[in-house]
Amino acid sequence: MYLLIPAAGSGRRIGSDRNKLLLPVFGKPLIAWTLLAAKLSRSIRWIGVVGQPDDFPDFKDIINGIGMSKMVHLIPGGDTRQASVFCGLQGLPAVAERVLIHDGARCLVTPALFDRCAEELLTCPGLIAAVPVKDTIKIVQPTSQMITGTPDRGNLWAAQTPQGFQVEALTRCHQEGEDKGWQVTDDAMLFEQCGFPVKIVPGEETNLKVTTIMDLAIAEFILRQRAKEAP
Ligand code: CTP
Ligand code: MG
Repeated sequence: MYLLIPAAGSGRRIGSDRNKLLLPVFGKPLIAWTLLAAKLSRSIRWIGVVGQPDDFPDFKDIINGIGMSKMVHLIPGGDTRQASVFCGLQGLPAVAERVLIHDGARCLVTPALFDRCAEELLTCPGLIAAVPVKDTIKIVQPTSQMITGTPDRGNLWAAQTPQGFQVEALTRCHQEGEDKGWQVTDDAMLFEQCGFPVKIVPGEETNLKVTTIMDLAIAEFILRQRAKEAP
């Protein structure tokens, strides 16, 4: 299975002056944990890390440190996550039929989740890892700040990554999205807008996206717990 890791962000919301993926978490740069999980997955054989070229020297050191330089390829990214994934798709080998896309910032992903998604992707054109929403979600009119609706929580799922797709179909969706100026926050949204079915694979509660300083502290805590529990 091919894996693309969008890693070309800046970490504005975490308040860092460098890519948040280079910040230390439990003794390693954040992205090292994401890469380690990919390395330990049975199904992933090729990894494209989509990044800003300024970060490539750091990424190379991390990749060499983990001992996975043969399987990891660095691909220059774009100004948005959407643009970066499109760059990544263009950097895939021509033989790639299916691809998993996993945010570098979700450093608590497990090898088992990668493998579950890879296996399921053999049976459908598109899928995402997701978990049931715990909070009650309100739809709010932005100027008046008044609630206009409360969707039934039983139908709401929080999207995670990995997200997996047939490469040819997803590339066409990205092209259409670019042509029509669609702005999306995940790849499933493009796939949905183009009329393709997308399936849910049970994600993991711990598979959070490190967005804020609090997330960084939670990630540190979970990685420490995992180290204690490891045989
Ligand atoms: N990403 C990317 N290219 C971009 C922007 C984001 O590849 N131009 C990646 C990030 O590196 C991250 C993932 O997409 O792994 C999810 O994005 P997000 O959590 O929003 O990270 P940042 O954009 O770095 O953070 P912020 O939005 O707070 O600046
Ligand atoms: Mg962002």
